[in-house]
Amino acid sequence: MVEDSAEDAGLILRELRRGGFAPDFERVFSREALEAALDRGPWDLITADYSMPQFTGVEAFEVVRAKNLDVPFIIVSGTVGEQAAVAAMKAGVQDFVLKDKLDRLVPVIERELRDAQVRAEREKMREQLLVADRMASVGMLAASVAHEINNPLTSIAGNLELITRALLDLSRTIPAIAPLLEDLNDAQEGARRIQEIARDLKLFSRAPAEVVEAVDLRRVFESSLRMARNEIQHRARVVRDYGDVPPVEANESRLGQVFLNLIINAAQSIAVGHADNNEIRVATRRDNQGQVIAEVEDTGSGMAPEVLAQIFTPLFTTKPVGVGTGLGLAICRRIISDIGAEISVESEVGKGSLFRITFPRIGHTADLTVESVVAVHAARRRGRILVVDDEPMISKIIRRVCARDHDVVSVESAREALARIERGERFDLILSDVMMPAMTGPQLYEELKRVAPDLAQSMVFFTGGSFASDAQASLDGIPNLRIEKPFAIDHLHRIINERIH
Ligand SMILES: Nc1ncnc2c1ncn2[C@@H]1O[C@H](COP(=O)(O)OP(=O)(O)OP(=O)(O)O)[C@@H](O)[C@H]1O
Ligand SMILES: [Mg+2]
Repeated sequence: MVEDSAEDAGLILRELRRGGFAPDFERVFSREALEAALDRGPWDLITADYSMPQFTGVEAFEVVRAKNLDVPFIIVSGTVGEQAAVAAMKAGVQDFVLKDKLDRLVPVIERELRDAQVRAEREKMREQLLVADRMASVGMLAASVAHEINNPLTSIAGNLELITRALLDLSRTIPAIAPLLEDLNDAQEGARRIQEIARDLKLFSRAPAEVVEAVDLRRVFESSLRMARNEIQHRARVVRDYGDVPPVEANESRLGQVFLNLIINAAQSIAVGHADNNEIRVATRRDNQGQVIAEVEDTGSGMAPEVLAQIFTPLFTTKPVGVGTGLGLAICRRIISDIGAEISVESEVGKGSLFRITFPRIGHTADLTVESVVAVHAARRRGRILVVDDEPMISKIIRRVCARDHDVVSVESAREALARIERGERFDLILSDVMMPAMTGPQLYEELKRVAPDLAQSMVFFTGGSFASDAQASLDGIPNLRIEKPFAIDHLHRIINERIH
């Protein structure tokens, strides 16, 4: 209440109580006192006298507006000229109630409180949309990058493997080749690291209709740490404190996003240059009720209470433009609450911060990571393989892998594959990409089901990076085997030889 008269304040309060309110209130009548009171907020409602000795209602309103507060503001005053009332409303004051018509006060307040609630909900929705939007665009970007990386990478990794094998043979007779093998080994190691990054990117790109699966927290931490390597490197040592915990029920890619956000925040809270004196600790453990806990702790700047109060609010950031958008933790909280988990934080300025995620207990932990073990078969007879991929590099590497055991025919479009089969060509196995222009792999499958059902059955699909596409989704109803790009040559070799016998 911005009101210099205690008596008038009493009248207003009596009216409010009659209307069923039991307000906590403070009365102020100077600019400084109002500012201080606003800082102690939040407030649901402000009433102000129109004119007081040190201050006017309209000035009071400007103070509120300068603080960017959306609190209903009602002037309650003795008779004033019509013009003054109009000017106040024009300035944005919600309503003007005359002291001799106080029976209007309660209905006006009820209306304004309702409107304020609607505005708050609308704002919340806008923020949620923003979060959803960024999640979608990050996912799509990641998907397309992973997709583009996969084809050349498959070629690089495959060729390195082939060259290594050939040189291994030669090195038995030519000693000078041995050091080359070491160089090749380094190159392969590099390719493997890129493969992991591409796989991690794909973790981020799954379509939003999410599968909840049993997720190994360690694995998610490791892939997030790899992705954050650059941010961490010159700032802190990483300490891994992995206690023995069962898998949690979550979506792996989303959880990866959460961990990555937390780890990058932790890294960014530490100044560059003292990596030896700083730590980022990632931990998994169980609390005393048996719930699974994941933690990211840093020895960085820590947060003051007024920062801490806002960190989960979308768009709140203390970082410069270009470094932070302030959406990271808002996204984390949403992902975490979607899986019924909780995120909490402890922080002290100058010491560091600890983010903790507590996962709900789950009933069953069986049948996880059960990899089917497949015996290795050597080729039993020479077969005919059709490779359908719009990326010639892929066909080429497959041809090189299989040429010794099988005949490989490659085409660059599903249409051409279909035409050949319609003309009567037969194959033992079809290896097909999913996404191709004109006709996709799944579409080829549907056509083959009509014209050559046995060939449809023999199809094996390469899946690339993009999980968001329709073509990828259309694989859903198809039971055939999929091989993820980039693939290991041994794996491919084994699959081919198993299928041709
Ligand atoms: N580990 C931390 N140590 C210190 N401050 C932190 C830490 N984590 C978050 N904060 C504070 O919380 C704010 C909000 O974090 P959030 O992840 O939501 O956004 P951001 O990191 O600023 O930007 P974005 O994640 O969108 O790139 C940060 O700007 C920072 O002030
Ligand atoms: Mg962040």
